Amino acid sequence: MRLLVTGAAGFIGAYVCHALLDHGCEVVGLDNLNSYYDPALKRARLGFLEARSGFRFVERDLADPQALDGLGGFDVIVHLAAQAGVRYSLEAPFAYLDSNLKGHLTVLEHVRHAASRPFLVYASSSSVYGDTTPAPFREDARCDAPVSLYAATKRGCEMLSESYGALYGLAQVGLRFFTVYGPWGRPDMAYFAFAEAMAAGRAITVFNNGDLMRDFTWIDDIVEGVTRIALGGKGGGQAAGRLHRIYNIGNNRPERLMDFITALEQATGLTARLEMAGMQPGDVHRTSANIDAISRDYGFAPTTSIAEGLPRFAAWLKDWRAGAASNWRY
Ligand SMILES: NC(=O)c1ccc[n+]([C@@H]2O[C@H](COP(=O)([O-])OP(=O)(O)OC[C@H]3O[C@@H](n4cnc5c(N)ncnc54)[C@H](O)[C@@H]3O)[C@@H](O)[C@H]2O)c1
Repeated sequence: MRLLVTGAAGFIGAYVCHALLDHGCEVVGLDNLNSYYDPALKRARLGFLEARSGFRFVERDLADPQALDGLGGFDVIVHLAAQAGVRYSLEAPFAYLDSNLKGHLTVLEHVRHAASRPFLVYASSSSVYGDTTPAPFREDARCDAPVSLYAATKRGCEMLSESYGALYGLAQVGLRFFTVYGPWGRPDMAYFAFAEAMAAGRAITVFNNGDLMRDFTWIDDIVEGVTRIALGGKGGGQAAGRLHRIYNIGNNRPERLMDFITALEQATGLTARLEMAGMQPGDVHRTSANIDAISRDYGFAPTTSIAEGLPRFAAWLKDWRAGAASNWRY
């Protein structure tokens, strides 16, 4: 099987590429290696991939409509490239227009015209549920009140996919990820930034006075789900009929922020100095996934709790900061 993974130098993308290579697939990884966060981390992730046979990297920007020209045919495209981050969308809105909406359209146009008509699996986000959807979130909620531009563009990508599915008969699965964490993760995310601040003796800002809940999902659980869906191809899964399907992919076990901070203290052996603050614009009070649909159709069953996952993240972060992260697995 020949697959394209966009966002291959990113956190989830790099893991997905490894898992596909483990299954004997040929993988083309695409990324523009932008500097939203330390590109050295993206280069380091890529280094592990480029050492493996069956992998080829191309540096391209999906905002360019021709970005996917000349790469050959694919059976499956796993489209994970995006401008992520809720908070940054308040500062750099056009990055979200370019990478998320234009980028998604570049991928859809490629699939539409490709002779092989690849099966498209793409990343959406729990943020599409906004702050008014009753928890746990179900995929059939309306999702028409995004509270950040990031969420609006992710919901926009789902809408683009829905229209292309109807117009051109494209087979697609959209995955709404819920706060993914793990080694080689994203420095802009709270769990990572908290751990860094604790190590440096800085205070951590606790928004909404700690009264927030998040559904944290361990990276290996996510990757197992994504690869199962990608390798299942167009006919995979149990759901018959609909060409474009959207699933939550989360841990269905939301954690209180303050419990999460305690678990991070235990994992790192450090004490957090807390600086309480109000609610942040663009943020939501809770994320909580109903995963009945993906469990039913694909047997998705996350197994890793934060008590297991966070110490592995902390071990990696220590090595990474010391310039000694020489293994991919932690
Ligand atoms: N990590 C999470 O908790 C989470 C939660 C919800 C949704 N998601 C979504 O999952 C996907 C992967 O997230 P991640 O955490 O691995 O993020 P990431 O930022 O680590 O990876 C995204 C990659 O896409 C690349 N990219 C961005 N714009 C591009 C463009 N225009 N052309 C080519 N490459 C581009 C970036 O350089 C980066 O390496 C994203 O679509 C994100 O929105 C992630």
